[in-house]
Amino acid sequence: MEFNKFRIRSYEGQYDRAQVEDLERRCEVGPSESVFLFTDTMGDPICRIRNSPMYMMLVAELENELVGVIQGSIKLVTVHGHPPKDLAKVGYVLGLRVSPHHRRKAIGSSLVRRLEEWFSSKDVDYAYMATEKDNQASVSLFMDKFGYTKFRTPAILVNPVNHHCFQISANIEIARLKVDQAEYLYRRFMGSTEFFPNDIGNILRNKLSLGTWVAYFKGDIGWGILGQMDKSLIVGQCSVYGTVERYSS
Ligand SMILES: CC(C)(COP(=O)(O)OP(=O)(O)OC[C@H]1O[C@@H](n2cnc3c(N)ncnc32)[C@H](O)[C@@H]1OP(=O)(O)O)[C@@H](O)C(=O)NCCC(=O)NCCS
Repeated sequence: MEFNKFRIRSYEGQYDRAQVEDLERRCEVGPSESVFLFTDTMGDPICRIRNSPMYMMLVAELENELVGVIQGSIKLVTVHGHPPKDLAKVGYVLGLRVSPHHRRKAIGSSLVRRLEEWFSSKDVDYAYMATEKDNQASVSLFMDKFGYTKFRTPAILVNPVNHHCFQISANIEIARLKVDQAEYLYRRFMGSTEFFPNDIGNILRNKLSLGTWVAYFKGDIGWGILGQMDKSLIVGQCSVYGTVERYSS
């Protein structure tokens, strides 16, 4: 079969915003029956990548209809043994969506291929993407068609926070960190983790990041002296990248 009628081009916010948002709404992600995750980009479909060091958003157009979209960003991350200085260039693939009426016409794979060409032109070492393990179409596209292999299996857990009361123990203190303190802690305790982002400072400084908090036992540490912090601290980071995740059941 020949599917050459669609055209792939760069996203132009001025013309494409409404159609991309509509496409996003029409694309269910994953097969979950009871809960689904919908990312509302609140009028700015490119908000998930806009603050990355390098980013690209592509759309697929078929007879003036926007039928597919993909986003990508490039950053330096920790990869042990990778020269120089254990840092590698990674291209993140995200936001791949093809209109339900136009699937299995090679649009999704063409978008991935074009993004990977951009990665190659920027000397990217690895491409990286995240998907639900039960998302047959996506898993098959990336693993069978493009040869991606499984790297990690994280879990996303949800809970409506207002529906239960949680008492914080009287001997625990919670404090908000300054960005420099947060960056120091993340680099110190997580900097050697594979795929730790080298632009952590920019991520924390991003105006869409709400902040970083630590929990510690009362009287345990002097906040002015970062050298005294140890691993018993629990660090929590909260960001709002211009999106709202809606959980429906
Ligand atoms: C995943 C998705 C982007 C695929 O787009 P598409 O344009 O239909 O994909 P393609 O036609 O290029 O298919 C490429 C390959 O992917 C695999 N594939 C695609 N859809 C599949 C399905 N429903 N079941 C199993 N494999 C599938 C096949 O290997 C296919 O190759 P083939 O047609 O030669 O058999 C599309 O189904 C979609 O938008 N899903 C909802 C959003 C989503 O889940 N996005 C991915 C999460 S990041």
